[in-house]
Amino acid sequence: MAGAALAGLRIVVSAGPTYEDIDPVRFIGNRSSGKMGFAIAAAAARRGADVVLVAGPVALPTPDGVHRVDVRSAAQMHDAVFAQLPADIYIAAAAVADFTPRQVAPGKIKKRDGEDGLTLELVRTRDILAEVAVDPRRPRLLVGFAAETGDVETYARGKLAKKKLDLIAANRVGVEGSGFESDDNALAVYWNGGERALGPAPKTELAERLLDLVAERLRA
Ligand code: CTP
Ligand code: CA
Repeated sequence: MAGAALAGLRIVVSAGPTYEDIDPVRFIGNRSSGKMGFAIAAAAARRGADVVLVAGPVALPTPDGVHRVDVRSAAQMHDAVFAQLPADIYIAAAAVADFTPRQVAPGKIKKRDGEDGLTLELVRTRDILAEVAVDPRRPRLLVGFAAETGDVETYARGKLAKKKLDLIAANRVGVEGSGFESDDNALAVYWNGGERALGPAPKTELAERLLDLVAERLRA
């Protein structure tokens, strides 16, 4: 059964937001709670997988049997994920910042009389998932997440192809009772030649159904 299919496999899960520092007291973050990724890590450990959870800044307890590595920024998450390769499966559930301040101000940024605005210069971060996909140690199965508005399937399938993923789990954001910060969610999971709707359901239940699908795709 699906329950045994992941036993003994090494699974890396990334979860939560990243914080990109602006100065010693401020950062750019996002609304990711980390709950989906933590639920996946917990469920995979219950199935006997060897699970490493690379976690951005979240206030969640470490699931039983999971090895947790805490990080703050996108750059730190990049290095922490690569340090865990090789792995059999990588599940990228983190909401990684796309841009980060070009430099961190060494002291607290002060406002000055007569200035009516502040311009921050941001630069692109590295795409962790896309880099893992082309690494010689690429895991057998790569799972991405995509939080989208509008035409969810088109955007999600675009990322599936562009990032060379095996599965992408998309959720519509900006809808009441789903996505970021919520305990419940609904996912549309796409792969080359297939799709499956999961939920709406609690994230703990979605994690189980997603791992069932991961186990199926591993066999395919
Ligand atoms: N991702 C990543 N590294 C980044 C940005 C995203 O590993 N620097 C991963 C996310 O963890 C997720 C997947 O890529 O699994 C898709 O993230 P998403 O933000 O939806 O896609 P982007 O490629 O960043 O595109 P955009 O935000 O412009 O829609
Ligand atoms: Ca993004």
